[in-house]
Amino acid sequence: MQTNTWYLPAKVFKHANRYIFGVNTMVKPMTQDALMSAYGGESMAHMRYLIFAEIAEKEGFKNVARLFKAIAYAEQVHARNHYERLKDLNVDAKVVAGAPFGPGNTSKNLELAIRGEVFEIEEMYPVYMEIAKYQGEKNAEVSFKWALEAEKIHAELYKKAKEYVDKGQDMPLEGNVWICPICGHTHVGKEAPDKCPVCGAPKNKYVGF
Ligand SMILES: [Fe+2]
Ligand SMILES: [Fe+2]
Repeated sequence: MQTNTWYLPAKVFKHANRYIFGVNTMVKPMTQDALMSAYGGESMAHMRYLIFAEIAEKEGFKNVARLFKAIAYAEQVHARNHYERLKDLNVDAKVVAGAPFGPGNTSKNLELAIRGEVFEIEEMYPVYMEIAKYQGEKNAEVSFKWALEAEKIHAELYKKAKEYVDKGQDMPLEGNVWICPICGHTHVGKEAPDKCPVCGAPKNKYVGF
């Protein structure tokens, strides 16, 4: 059988780039696992919050429903960022990612939401950032950092919402819940910030809920 020595398929070229010329176009495996898991976790959080928004709406907590919808969008932004960091892959993979299960009324759902956010803040993202940093995967590190910064705000907003809901009241939300579509930064107010404090995106990029 004759082999075409003049012909280098794209995959071989990528291999050559990586191992011969030292240009690494692929994310290293441990960081890759972290990105996949974070993508899975954010995808589930996105869906969970949309489900929680429907329940809050039915229970008459209009602002809490709005908060869930806005934060669902922020989680979509995170999922997209993590997913895009893996654009050079062409594989099917099983993803292991944790999520709080057992939905109930809005008070219970806020409890699950807080638990999910706190896990991401205290364990998941700090550890994933360390993996990416250790492996020199700057793009992944930034993606994790952006998510971490937003999750801190989400946890506080959900805690505030729960205080009101547990008294049988809707939470006060003056203005909009603004989401940065680049990094997921979340801001409550009449106007979006002039510039995203996390990624630097301009005010007019923000999406209001
Ligand atoms: Fe979040
Ligand atoms: Fe941003």
